[in-house]
Amino acid sequence: MRPDPDCRLCGLCDGRTNIVLPDGDPSSGVVLVGEAPGENEDLEGRPFVGRSGRILEGMLSDAGLDRSMVLITNTVKCRPPGNRDPSPVEMAACRPFLESELRGARLVVGLGKSACRDLMGHTGPMADIVNRPTEIDVGGTMVPFIPTYHPAATIYNKVSRAELRRTMDMVAEVLGACTPDL
Ligand code: URA
Repeated sequence: MRPDPDCRLCGLCDGRTNIVLPDGDPSSGVVLVGEAPGENEDLEGRPFVGRSGRILEGMLSDAGLDRSMVLITNTVKCRPPGNRDPSPVEMAACRPFLESELRGARLVVGLGKSACRDLMGHTGPMADIVNRPTEIDVGGTMVPFIPTYHPAATIYNKVSRAELRRTMDMVAEVLGACTPDL
């Protein structure tokens, strides 16, 4: 299920250049969910193509993976003005699209606070939940979920960088990919 090219389900339509649809392999059964498109993503119409995307790709690569091996998406498909967090109302408006992307997944990874708020209702510190596998309700079916840090949160923080790197090892394990010796 995809948004209409002229989607007006929430106010984010006013400032968008492109609707940013999921990228990667839906048949992998592994879905990485970020927060929202930023400036570069809005211009290109593809998720995680800016600085956060380069960090994410580096982390995937360190775990022996390529972004094309998973599905990458966001809680909302349009860029919030000034890169503010998407609001609960905007996330709810986009939820049917996200649910259709997550249905039947083997593993969903929530990248950062907004994804974890949207998908597991967590509003406390990320440190309380990072890399603790749980399950989330996707349209009435429970799906395995790993909460973790957003790539942007790892730029100046060694601990969150190591945690996100560890998440990618868990993703590699689920995909059955081999992880090179570090
Ligand atoms: N940050 C996100 O959460 N998603 C993107 O697509 C890009 C940056």
